[in-house]
Amino acid sequence: MIDFKQQIAELINKNVEEMSKEELLGLIEVPPNYEMGDYAIPCFKMAKIFRKAPNVISQEIVEMIGDNKYFEKIQSVGPYINFFINRGVFAETVLKEVYENKEKYGATDIGKGRNVIVEFSSPNIAKPFHIGHIRTTVIGHSLYKIYNFLGFNTIAINHLGDYGTQFGKLIVAYKEWGDREIIEANPIPELLKLYIKFHEVAEEKPELDDQAREWFHKLENDDVEARELWQWIRDVSLKEFNRVYDMLNIKYDSFAGESFYSDKMPRVIDIMNKKEILKDSQGARIVDLEPYGMPPALIQKRDGSTLYITRDIAAALYRKETYDFYRNIYVVGSQQKLHFEQWMKIVELMGFEWANQCIHVPFGMVALEEGTMSTRKGRVVFLEDVLNKAVDKTKEIIEEKSPNLENKDKVAKQIGIGAVVFQELSNNRIKDYTFSWERTLAFEGETGPYVQYTHARATSVLSKAGIEVTDDIDYSLLSNEEAINVVRLIHDFKQIVIDAMEKDEPSIITRHIVDLAQAFNKFYHDCPILVDDEELKKARLLLVNSAKGVIKTGLSLIGVEAPEKM
Ligand code: ARG
Repeated sequence: MIDFKQQIAELINKNVEEMSKEELLGLIEVPPNYEMGDYAIPCFKMAKIFRKAPNVISQEIVEMIGDNKYFEKIQSVGPYINFFINRGVFAETVLKEVYENKEKYGATDIGKGRNVIVEFSSPNIAKPFHIGHIRTTVIGHSLYKIYNFLGFNTIAINHLGDYGTQFGKLIVAYKEWGDREIIEANPIPELLKLYIKFHEVAEEKPELDDQAREWFHKLENDDVEARELWQWIRDVSLKEFNRVYDMLNIKYDSFAGESFYSDKMPRVIDIMNKKEILKDSQGARIVDLEPYGMPPALIQKRDGSTLYITRDIAAALYRKETYDFYRNIYVVGSQQKLHFEQWMKIVELMGFEWANQCIHVPFGMVALEEGTMSTRKGRVVFLEDVLNKAVDKTKEIIEEKSPNLENKDKVAKQIGIGAVVFQELSNNRIKDYTFSWERTLAFEGETGPYVQYTHARATSVLSKAGIEVTDDIDYSLLSNEEAINVVRLIHDFKQIVIDAMEKDEPSIITRHIVDLAQAFNKFYHDCPILVDDEELKKARLLLVNSAKGVIKTGLSLIGVEAPEKM
């Protein structure tokens, strides 16, 4: 692909040798609108070198450059030089690259040989997998795909909350009031009921708490019965979670949850002792983090049992040794910011210089709209219900609008689930937001279904055309405003994916494909494609095919499917 910025740097460097190409590249700007050119370069630095006014220098350089095949127009405006790219040449370099690379357009190997762990979703077993988990789940899945697309070797980890004193409580409750069959028929709500009942009854019978502690202690010491019950609770919970992961096409490389690290604690404590960072506090062991402006971290309770934070430290060590990560990413809500800052600091104090390769990617909270009720019980909105509701609504719309569509059920899933995921990834992750059924199930405006529809529309024109798409076309036929705007967005897509990776921000891609879909629809509306003029038809079809491909890739990077027909 021709790099127009590089061309600009070379052209100026030829005439102003005092400035290096690198230096010039750094000066190139993109003007606020394309009427002012595609690129611009300010002349203040050159003016200093030549001791002339910047606007004079700008004029002189433009004269020296003269005509150039890559630029239609090179213009001096005040202290700036504005460059208008040759649109035909631009369209050619961009669309040829898309044509050659197909669905790999935008992919790079910048991540080659580097392992990136993305830990996401990580719900707690025996607890609802609810709307509050949607963001970690879809943001994490998207990051996993983005890193993978950029050539990193990616590892998806689900750090299940499958350990801790609450399992002692659950075992006690199960033994007192539980019924295996009832639980297996409806695991999470029933286990939740037991857990709630435990707390209610324990208020009056505090001895239950002692029993719970005992059972957790047994679990930690591999007691057969405790282990068996815990395993069963984990299995039935995971079966529930997996239904949702299947709906979202999410596959994990590892479900090593908190319990996985229960036997890896002595070593962690050992290293901390050697580094002399553990302190005694009324029989418990803590790390003092006051010098770093943080409250102390409780590492080991008086009875020797470990905590959430200790398991995170053990997990980080294990991951470094197992995967030798370049980055170890945690997609976890911003409420846990302090937790991550604390343990990452502790890992650093333990002497591991890779502590700074552990990255907490936080996101804002999801609040429930006033009056939002779950379909089952309480103020819990199950993620599965949200997805199913979206699919049902899509089915209704399909029955109404296109009852003859092939694979209706499959398409309804792609659109309904796509709508939910797309909406979740439309905003900056750090923003808090309020969950609303209405917004989640909206199909018009800047939504997933709108972008998917654009993709299906492009697919349909291509199949109607009935001719092979080729890159052997007259590219100057794509110089009009509507066409070139589509080309620009296709061109920018490459950098957009990299930006999304560098900022760990999938919404950058979501917003870009909305822009691309809008530009495409304007082109589609204003520029008839299946025209008699064969050359024009061929040129426009290539653009349609390229836009279709990039939209599909973009959707895939945020974990949304692109049906061919809808
Ligand atoms: N299970 C936790 C929760 O539901 C999230 C785990 C986050 N990951 C971690 N490595 N601490 O809040």
